[in-house]
Amino acid sequence: MKLVETVAALEVELDAARAAGKTIVLVPTMGALHEGHLSLIEEANQVADAFVVMSIFVNPTQFGKGEDFERYPRTLATDIEVLSKLAQAPAVLFTPAVEEVYPAGLDAPLKPRAGALGSVFEGIARPGHFEGMLNVVSWFFEVTKPEVAVFGAKDAQQLFLIKRMIHREFNDSIAIIEARTVREEDYLAKSSRNRFLSPEARAYAPNLFASMIQVQEEIIEGELPTVALAKARTILDRPPLAKLDYLALVDKSTFSPISDEFSGEAQLLVAVVVDGVRLIDNITFYIQEPA
Ligand code: PAF
Repeated sequence: MKLVETVAALEVELDAARAAGKTIVLVPTMGALHEGHLSLIEEANQVADAFVVMSIFVNPTQFGKGEDFERYPRTLATDIEVLSKLAQAPAVLFTPAVEEVYPAGLDAPLKPRAGALGSVFEGIARPGHFEGMLNVVSWFFEVTKPEVAVFGAKDAQQLFLIKRMIHREFNDSIAIIEARTVREEDYLAKSSRNRFLSPEARAYAPNLFASMIQVQEEIIEGELPTVALAKARTILDRPPLAKLDYLALVDKSTFSPISDEFSGEAQLLVAVVVDGVRLIDNITFYIQEPA
C-alpha cells in the first residue's frame, strides 16, 4: 500500500495503474476505520483488475457549528496498521491536507448541489452538511477520475445525493457500489461514532434496527405505513436518554416521503440522538400493491 498525500503524487500512481489496464476504484472515508470500512474495501476488490484508492480525509465543511469535527476520531497510525494487515490492502492510501482540498480556504463558498434534499431529514439537523459532503466527494472524483466508487448503504441520503451528482455532473461515468451496512451482533450499525456511546446509550442503540424491522413486518402484514410509523416513534422516543429525530418512509427512487397508498421499493430512515450521539440507520423493503 502506497501512502500518498498530494494530488501530484496520486497522479503518478493513477497514470501507472491506467497504463497497466487497471480499473480505478475509489473508496472515500474519513478514517477511524472499522469493519464497515473494511467491507467497502472487500467490495472494491471484487471489481475486475481493481486498483483501489482509499482516501482518509476528515472533511471540515461537512461539519456544522457545534458538531463533532474537533472530536471526530483521527486514528491515522492505527488505520494504516489495520490496512497493511489486510490480505488485499488498497493499492493507495490518499490522505490530502486541508489546504490541498480547499486551496481557496474553508470560507470560500461551496458550489450548491444538494438543493431541497439538503434541508430534509439529516439536512435539518445538519444544515450545510450535504453541501460540504458533495463538495469533497466531487473533489475526490475530479482528482481520482475513478471508474467505480464504493459507499456504505448506511448513509442513505448521502448515497442518493452522490448518485444524483454523478448523473448531473459526471455524465454517469462513475459506477457506484452500494456496500451493505455492517452490523454488531445486536444489529447496531457499525459507525465511527459508536465509540462515544455511554453504556446506557449503547444498551438503547439496538432499538433503531429492531423498530425498523417491526415497521417493515407490520406494513408487509397490511398495516398502514402511517400507523406503523406512529407506533414505532413512541417506542424510539425516550427522553431524556434518546431523542427521536425522524423515522420516515421514502420512495427509494426519489427520496420523497411516501403516502399510505404507495407501492414499490421503500426506504425506512431513522435518526436518533442518544445521550448526545447521533445514530442513523435505514432498511429497504418492497411494499406490495394492496390485493
Ligand atoms: O461517509 C463518509 O465517511 C463521508 O461523508 C465521505 C463520503 C467520506 C465524505 O467526506
